[in-house]
Amino acid sequence: MHPTPSVTNPNRTKKEFYDDLLDEVKAFVDGQRFWVTNLANVAALIYHGLHSLEEHRNKPVNWAGFYVTDPTNDQKLILGPFQGKVACTEILFGKGVCGAAAVSQETQVVKNVHEFPSHIACDSASNSEIVVPLVLPSGKLIGVIDIDCEELEGFNDDDKVGLEAVAKVIIDSCDWW
Ligand code: SME
Repeated sequence: MHPTPSVTNPNRTKKEFYDDLLDEVKAFVDGQRFWVTNLANVAALIYHGLHSLEEHRNKPVNWAGFYVTDPTNDQKLILGPFQGKVACTEILFGKGVCGAAAVSQETQVVKNVHEFPSHIACDSASNSEIVVPLVLPSGKLIGVIDIDCEELEGFNDDDKVGLEAVAKVIIDSCDWW
């Protein structure tokens, strides 16, 4: 797939943004099944897409990317492709927001990370976070989508619904280990 310009209307609602994002993700993974390649492009689409929105002008997204399950240890997440500052390389299942999503296989929408008991502060600028699990049809957790925001309440149910749809496309579009 050859890159095409993204839709960048800043006044899109979150729902409209995620409809567009889903189309972009489908286009970029078309014909490509290597997971590193697809996760790298999806991280860029999410990060720059959210940055383009008026709704996030005062709620900057400071990190968007993936942690994947360690192929040699199914109780550990390791850093995958992302956009943002350098981050923690390993997160045990059950630790932090990512580890909670990994164990529960449920999306975590955290309005205030400082109130989340085991939150792992990779970037002290983060104040809210959403983590969406990537689960194979077999039930195996293959990784998570993780997005951080510098303001409280950066994410809501629209992000949860939109990113869960993206997660499903990602799961179906790559060959996993
Ligand atoms: N805050 C995450 C750790 C990863 S960084 O946000 C990139 C957590 O608590 O799991």
